[in-house]
Amino acid sequence: MRKVRKAVFPVAGLGTRFLPATKAIPKEMLTVVDRPVIQYVVDEAREAGIEHFIFVTGRNKAVIEDHFDIQFELYNTLAERGKDEQLERLRALQPVPGQTSFTRQQEPLGLGHAVWCARELVGDEPFALLLPDMIMHSQESCLKGMVDLYDKSGGNVVAVQECDPAEAHKYGIVAKGAEVGEGFEITAMVEKPAKGTAPSNLYINGRYILQPEIFAILENQERGAGGEIQLTDAMIRLGDSQKMFGFHYRGDTYDCGSPEGFVEANLAFALRRPELREVVENVMARLSGASRG
Ligand code: UTP
Repeated sequence: MRKVRKAVFPVAGLGTRFLPATKAIPKEMLTVVDRPVIQYVVDEAREAGIEHFIFVTGRNKAVIEDHFDIQFELYNTLAERGKDEQLERLRALQPVPGQTSFTRQQEPLGLGHAVWCARELVGDEPFALLLPDMIMHSQESCLKGMVDLYDKSGGNVVAVQECDPAEAHKYGIVAKGAEVGEGFEITAMVEKPAKGTAPSNLYINGRYILQPEIFAILENQERGAGGEIQLTDAMIRLGDSQKMFGFHYRGDTYDCGSPEGFVEANLAFALRRPELREVVENVMARLSGASRG
């Protein structure tokens, strides 16, 4: 079985829910505590053993490329000023030369189209796909759990989580079949089912391991919901000829594509930092008292 070595990060969306913040700054560069959102997602991929990081970018996204580059002047200045700790923190996150690739989507025609744009960089091998909007926290990374399942199951693996059944119409939903190791066979998949028709409350949370045959399907995929080329539509077609497995992720997920999820992520990650915990708790107690009074 072919190992999952590459990960694709589609970062070409317009981020309209964050305007005006995203007029000139990509939403993936908004910070959760002191790191851009994209850094959390790249770290998750690295923890899962990914060796090559592929970014599908768009206009105004060049700063993402800069973020993963070395900044000689900054590094030299930090070294001269004896700021070794900060320097070390930057170096630990630095991809090695040749480990990142960037391509442009040119037009934001949908997630499926963004993934298709990575076809030449991925080539003929399975790959991970991580939606940078979603950042996660758990003992073992979500993608690591998926890779472990994939090493036994092969095929395609999609991470799912439970949602409030009343919210199922907002997501891609899967139907659960026989259990397979830590996961299960997916028997059906539907993007944003009409209210009351979802086959379960297991929603696709933004992490995938896909076989390269998805590219040929995306190549002639018609536009779907919202006039966009939808990845889920192409995965449903891939499921006709290949196995699809669900990995039931049980950690925390924050949807940083929406202001509510982004604020929650900032609070949650700040509370996990020992040096910030007390101050954040005090601020929250004071502010929630003030908002009641
Ligand atoms: P979203 O629909 O959540 O992102 O796409 P968006 O379009 O940027 O945000 P809003 O709805 O306008 O606020 C999910 C992921 O797919 C990427 C986005 O960057 C995001 O990471 N995407 C989406 C693309 O790369 N290209 C697209 O054409 C659409």
